[in-house]
Amino acid sequence: MANRGGFSNKLGFILAAAGSAVGLGNIWKFPFEVGNGGGAAFVFMYLGFCFLLCFPVMVTEIAIGRKTQLNPVGAFKALGYNNWKFIGLLGIASGVIILSFYNVIAGWAFGYFFEMATGNFEIGKNFGPFVANVTKVGLYAILFMVLTAFIVSRGVSGGIEKAARLLMPALIIMILCLVGYSLTLPNAMTGLKFYLFPNFSAINGATLGGALRQAFFSLSLGMGALITYGSYVSKKDNIVSSAAFITLTDVGIAFIAGLMMFPLVSYSTQGNMSDMEGGAGLIFATLPGVFETLGPLLGIIVGAFFFLLLSFAALTSTVSLLEVPVAYVVDEFKIRRSNAVILVAIVVFLFGLPSLLGNGAVDFFTNNFALPFGSDSSATGYSSDFLSFVAKIADTLLLFGGLAISIFAGHVWKKHNLDEEISFGFENYKTSLVRKLINLGVTIICPLVLFLLLVVVLLSNFAGIDVFTMF
Ligand code: PFF
Repeated sequence: MANRGGFSNKLGFILAAAGSAVGLGNIWKFPFEVGNGGGAAFVFMYLGFCFLLCFPVMVTEIAIGRKTQLNPVGAFKALGYNNWKFIGLLGIASGVIILSFYNVIAGWAFGYFFEMATGNFEIGKNFGPFVANVTKVGLYAILFMVLTAFIVSRGVSGGIEKAARLLMPALIIMILCLVGYSLTLPNAMTGLKFYLFPNFSAINGATLGGALRQAFFSLSLGMGALITYGSYVSKKDNIVSSAAFITLTDVGIAFIAGLMMFPLVSYSTQGNMSDMEGGAGLIFATLPGVFETLGPLLGIIVGAFFFLLLSFAALTSTVSLLEVPVAYVVDEFKIRRSNAVILVAIVVFLFGLPSLLGNGAVDFFTNNFALPFGSDSSATGYSSDFLSFVAKIADTLLLFGGLAISIFAGHVWKKHNLDEEISFGFENYKTSLVRKLINLGVTIICPLVLFLLLVVVLLSNFAGIDVFTMF
């Protein structure tokens, strides 16, 4: 495996993988999904799914990647299970779909940075016209894709590791400062209550599915991103502790993003949580309004800095999303890395055009894409635009991926092979308690629970049947 490159050390891998996990999913998507899903009950489900279901899948993905040192398709072939390479192909398709819309939103964040840095304090009030302005958002999206492509073409280690080391802690500190500030605003406690005190009657098929999808999306699971990153990991590294760190960092950042957001929401709705801007605009419309309360100068500095850090968090995620199809093309078709990057980036960008145009610029892509049933059509801010539609399809594909990966690891590749791979870098793994948990996870809990929940999700979103209200 010459010239595939690798992470310079364990920290490099952890930072890159945590960088993949932490992104728009935590700061943009998590708060509005919590808003749509009824608040704290959603948060509880989300946390349960992350630790119970996602953690074993994460360990498994990294182990498969490190064992084979290949992309998700090559990995299943190399293990001798040609038939299972469909998981890898599905993952690559999911990656392309996710990046196609993710890059558009990353472009918005990047655009907000530029707008604020150049003195456009009113941008939050003009979110609608901004995203409908094709020239502007098109330019920002192109810029973001070029940046992503540049980093990926230089290989997985290097710049991204160094940047993550500095900017990730900066993002955490910034959010914590905003948490502190938001708690001082009027009506903050109403928002906090909505976020932290569960009303379990909010649980139904749609919110359960939403929480599960959010968990997989946020942890970058189910599409082989961590198989790909795992393929660059050394045998000396402890996969379990790495996965624990990545999970805790990702969940922790989503949680504090919620702590920042909900007091701000109740401040801007004067304590009327049902008036919240529930959809994709939450952080682009509500948050800048709060920056304004800091006064023009401080507001603009804090606002610009916030969106710069958010863009960076998005960049470490777009890099991992692009890396998956690129590693596949490089490994399987023996194309030069730089050419593969250009090819895949262009294809993905073109694929993203309907998402780019579907926010007011072109009526067809803005209004015709609701899923037949489910939460989309409720009054929670989900609209029928192409981007929301395709995002939901992609999230659901991740659940298929997670289910297939756990069945593969637990019942096809078998526990002892998984055990052996995890043991490298974790000497006492075979006698540890965490081994029992991981094995229980991949053999029974993940296959069973993911299968059942996937049925619930499909019934609620595609057939209009909510299992919870049937009884
Ligand atoms: N986890 C990223 C986020 O929360 O923003 C999104 C993502 C990146 C999903 C990479 C899937 C993936 F493979």
